[in-house]
Amino acid sequence: MTNTLYIPVRDGSTSLNGLATMFINSWCGNKTQLTFVNHSSDSLTIPLPCLTAKANPNVALLTTLPFLVVGESENLSHLTVSGLAAVSRYLMKDSGDPVVIKSLGFRGNCLQAPAECSIWTSFCEVQMIQSTILFLTQQQQEGVVEIPTTLVQLEEHLKQPIRMHNVVKRWQKNQQSSRVADGELRQEEIQKQAGSLLDHTYVEGPDMTLADLLLFPCVTLLSERLSAFGIQLAEHLPRVSSWLMTMKPVVRQAWTTTVGETPILDIASLRIQPQPTVKIPHIKETSLYKRDTARRTGTGGNLSADEVKKVTDLLKRQKLMWLNNDSENGTGGHITTELPEGLISLIDVNTCSDFTPKINWTSLPDPAHPRQGHIPGSRLDRKIQQLDGIAAAVIEVVSQGDVIVDFCSGGGHLGILLAYLLPHCHVVMVDNKEESVRNARQRVAKLMLNNVTVIQSNLDYFRGRFDLGVALHACGVATDLVLHTCLAQRAAFVLCPCCYGNLAHPELPVHYPQSELFSSRDIPAYDFSVLARMADHITPSGRLGMAAVDLDRLARASQENYIVTLRKLKPDSCSPKHDLLTGIPSDHCRKKS
Ligand SMILES: C[S@@+](CC[C@H](N)C(=O)[O-])C[C@H]1O[C@@H](n2cnc3c(N)ncnc32)[C@H](O)[C@@H]1O
Repeated sequence: MTNTLYIPVRDGSTSLNGLATMFINSWCGNKTQLTFVNHSSDSLTIPLPCLTAKANPNVALLTTLPFLVVGESENLSHLTVSGLAAVSRYLMKDSGDPVVIKSLGFRGNCLQAPAECSIWTSFCEVQMIQSTILFLTQQQQEGVVEIPTTLVQLEEHLKQPIRMHNVVKRWQKNQQSSRVADGELRQEEIQKQAGSLLDHTYVEGPDMTLADLLLFPCVTLLSERLSAFGIQLAEHLPRVSSWLMTMKPVVRQAWTTTVGETPILDIASLRIQPQPTVKIPHIKETSLYKRDTARRTGTGGNLSADEVKKVTDLLKRQKLMWLNNDSENGTGGHITTELPEGLISLIDVNTCSDFTPKINWTSLPDPAHPRQGHIPGSRLDRKIQQLDGIAAAVIEVVSQGDVIVDFCSGGGHLGILLAYLLPHCHVVMVDNKEESVRNARQRVAKLMLNNVTVIQSNLDYFRGRFDLGVALHACGVATDLVLHTCLAQRAAFVLCPCCYGNLAHPELPVHYPQSELFSSRDIPAYDFSVLARMADHITPSGRLGMAAVDLDRLARASQENYIVTLRKLKPDSCSPKHDLLTGIPSDHCRKKS
């Protein structure tokens, strides 16, 4: 199995992500073959000695650079991995070197959670890189240098107690050299204090991990630039400075193999004045491990009855949608809408308990069937019903030769089924979870499908061209990122959303409500967030909230000249999240397969 690491290059320079990836590859013993791709999107480029005079092939980009292409092996199909943390994790696991593998931390989990779910991954993989690029490329105000916020956050993080698994055991192991004698602390005190008693030698605790390795190139460059301005890190951020001093000898060989012996920055050209004023941004005193729920939901706490009534009345007053209280069917009323003519087709949206399969499930080979995808018996029937509804909707709109992307493909239930049923289409499956992607690859290999590409990455790193985007239960804002990507490419879409309450995310390019329909009818962002949170309750008002959020999504597509439809997967019991949203660009001339 040969793996290839694709690195962006232009004029003997690479991006900061390219530098970090090459450094990690060096740390792993340079076992992975490099291919340099003529491409650079960053405003900051780093000249590297090994990049001069290389022939640079242009490759069709399916995802953001750098990425790793993992060759086929006996029972696994070929894979593309992208995203700094995911690529680094793969290189480290693949190195076969126990020391390298150990730096993936407890159970090999270091930076496994994607950036959108983990503040820590976001800090190491995204924010530190972005702030380094900004600091190294922006003009400083004359005589004043503001220390990058990320460095100050790192200093604060290093002050906080360590959070690691087995922290007590680890502390007890270190007891001989500890300041506190055995027996002086009670067990619960040890539990409480162990994080503070251990040293924060590295960013995650007493051991070096991938997080240190990813932060090292950025902090090194920032420290070099600050010292060129006459500012010593140790004076202002002593913990970061001491961490950098600890790291340098440990990674010296890998670092010099990557960047060479001469400093990367042209220090002589940078000095602005010997003693600038140093500004240190004010930040919250907090560890970067801490989950901040408000960051993800944009709201906090439970919904009150008053809030629900207020937004329900607002939807009705604005003639968007409301519940008719004829609760004959026991569901608490039908949802009624009064939308502008031709905006959205509502097809068969009434409650339904019947299911007539459209796919011949008994004829499917095992690996194409969801029973191969680790689904417990009780959920299998419902998964079949979900897949049947969404696959049938795809088959209705797909054309021969289309490229279909299954975003958030998980273990590949939908993507594999579509690839099997539509051999004249190509299916790309994108998911950021290692384990799910491995399961999907095994099933693809067993079926010997040659019309599938598997990508392990965040969906927003996907860069390929495609005709149809599908997503079954892409969590919260992920559905909107898929919609955003489909609209940007004028690709058709078939989406069944979930996790409605988890929508707001200030760092992503999606703002709610999304449509002119909702903003022109004065639905403020806060009220929309209430609707989204209502949608996660299995109640009549929950169904109303779900329909409202999906109406906003479809209205957004409609305003970009899509023909859009809202229908339901059948039967209702197949999932509480059973809205099915389809959109076809009105200018599409599609030939059916
Ligand atoms: C509820 S599962 C659905 C999986 C699959 N579509 C199915 O129906 O079986 C959601 C999946 O979305 C993936 N996911 C969530 N956010 C993502 C993102 N931003 N990029 C890529 N994958 C993501 C998760 O890893 C998970 O596998």
